[in-house]
Amino acid sequence: MSELIQNAAPVPRHVAIIMDGNGRWAEARGLRRIAGHRRGADAVRTAVRGCQDLGVRCLTIYAFSSENWKRPAVEIEYLMGLLRLYIESEIEELHSANVKLRFIGNRTQLQDDIVALIGQAEALTIKNTGLALSVAMNYGGRDEIVRACQRIATKVELGEMTPVELNEDRFAEELETFGLPDPDLLIRTSGEQRLSNFLLWQLAYAELVFIDTLWPDFTLDTLRGAIAEYQSRDRRYGASSA
Ligand code: FPP
Repeated sequence: MSELIQNAAPVPRHVAIIMDGNGRWAEARGLRRIAGHRRGADAVRTAVRGCQDLGVRCLTIYAFSSENWKRPAVEIEYLMGLLRLYIESEIEELHSANVKLRFIGNRTQLQDDIVALIGQAEALTIKNTGLALSVAMNYGGRDEIVRACQRIATKVELGEMTPVELNEDRFAEELETFGLPDPDLLIRTSGEQRLSNFLLWQLAYAELVFIDTLWPDFTLDTLRGAIAEYQSRDRRYGASSA
């Protein structure tokens, strides 16, 4: 992997991260998995500050997938508690740093107090113009696409649009990432090489960078390494090479 960020090359506008490896990080140290999640929350702070420092405009992180409900109840409760703590303890600092927070994913299964908390955090930061930080909670890419289709079908049913008016741009307007550019770079930690139902529509042309680092060990240098790798790629969007 390329190591050094090239100052002359553009940094990705939008970085998406699958934060994987918390459990293995903890197990390797003889700790309970939740200890890995706690250190993972610290790594979130590192990633947010790193993106701000490097000039990345948007960061989207996968905090809880719609499949994560299959985990033991105690681990789910701990992850929800970490999210509460993250919002409560960071929101003022994020707001003063001009960060605009958004939560994507299906809120209907989240606890009422979390729905209220994320609504407040979004409302507080809605006018901010700095880093657009999107946190995926109870998120699944297929579910997002199906819900977009349902909204479009309803609009057609109500006569608000016709099927021929539907195109890629119009479809993207119904996704929860509406208004954000598609991710340029997807980083997945822990050595796994799959998308796990994350941003399936939006990642169509992203550069995928898989790194062995476990998420709690993610540092500014890890981020810089992934961005340097991105800068070394030749993005062609289907065109032929020169
Ligand atoms: C994957 O590791 C990680 C998660 C399912 C949760 C990610 C959550 C955090 C990083 C902390 C909380 C988030 C915020 C926004 C404060 P894993 O448990 O699947 O690891 P494993 O594959 O090694 O078991």
